[in-house]
Amino acid sequence: MAVRLFEDQDHAADYLKYRVTPNEVVSHIMELLRKRMALPAKLAIDVGCGSGQGTVLLAPYFNQVVGTDISPAQLQYARKCDNVTYKQCPAEELPFESGSVDLVTSMTAAHWFDRPRFLQEVGRVLRGGGCVALLSYGLDMYLELGDFTDKLRQVCMELYTDLHPYRNPHLGTSSMQIYKDMFNLWPHPDKEWHEGLEVRRATTVNGYINLVETFSPYRKCKEDNPQEAQEMCNRVRKRLLDVLQVSSPETEVTLVTKYFYWVGCKP
Ligand SMILES: C[S@@+](CC[C@H](N)C(=O)[O-])C[C@H]1O[C@@H](n2cnc3c(N)ncnc32)[C@H](O)[C@@H]1O
Repeated sequence: MAVRLFEDQDHAADYLKYRVTPNEVVSHIMELLRKRMALPAKLAIDVGCGSGQGTVLLAPYFNQVVGTDISPAQLQYARKCDNVTYKQCPAEELPFESGSVDLVTSMTAAHWFDRPRFLQEVGRVLRGGGCVALLSYGLDMYLELGDFTDKLRQVCMELYTDLHPYRNPHLGTSSMQIYKDMFNLWPHPDKEWHEGLEVRRATTVNGYINLVETFSPYRKCKEDNPQEAQEMCNRVRKRLLDVLQVSSPETEVTLVTKYFYWVGCKP
């Protein structure tokens, strides 16, 4: 079973504004692919592309890139690029001919899909020698600033504990485990698992709170109890400012996101 979230316009706009674009992870993945296929190759598809933040990163490596997503609201904000187009469709029914695709990616999205059906569809659309690359991160991102880092991190971890009861049951308890399970399901021997790639981005305390507000457990909490959600944000903002011994929520900090990813290729 797949899960449909991310469907409203505000969420799509915030998503584009506050989520991290995974440039470094895509570069790593392309290095792994370069050992397996000549680049630029013909066609890549990015499934669950959302607003196309990751999709456009594939553009230099392929003649054509197609981002696909089930949500029209997300696609409405999709990033433009000369050789990138978008299609609305479910991940489990990709409108591409069998054996026609060089690379299928899914960036921070495959955990929402009907995973076995998606992988079967990936196997169908990939050409012989074509590859799949899935990347994501867990809810363990943290803020960094010199000697304050340990305490900032503690505040972030406590927030995730508070959000845990609102986690969608489709995700189980560990996002990384979902991706490991998919990795294990990939039926061909040429596959590689990687984890612990830390991506750093400058942000502010408010920027971090805005990011948290795009997380699905936070959105569930807000749906169930808007006041509790608002209080949670205010409390975390105040605690972060107290740790930093400042009053401005525009104080700059570094957001550290830990990615995991895997690549699998068809013989
Ligand atoms: C967390 S967002 C990630 C978006 C984008 N890949 C990124 O990294 O910013 C997950 C995306 O998956 C899409 N999605 C969820 N279930 C889907 C499905 N079954 N088929 C296609 N897209 C789906 C959502 O609409 C959403 O845009």
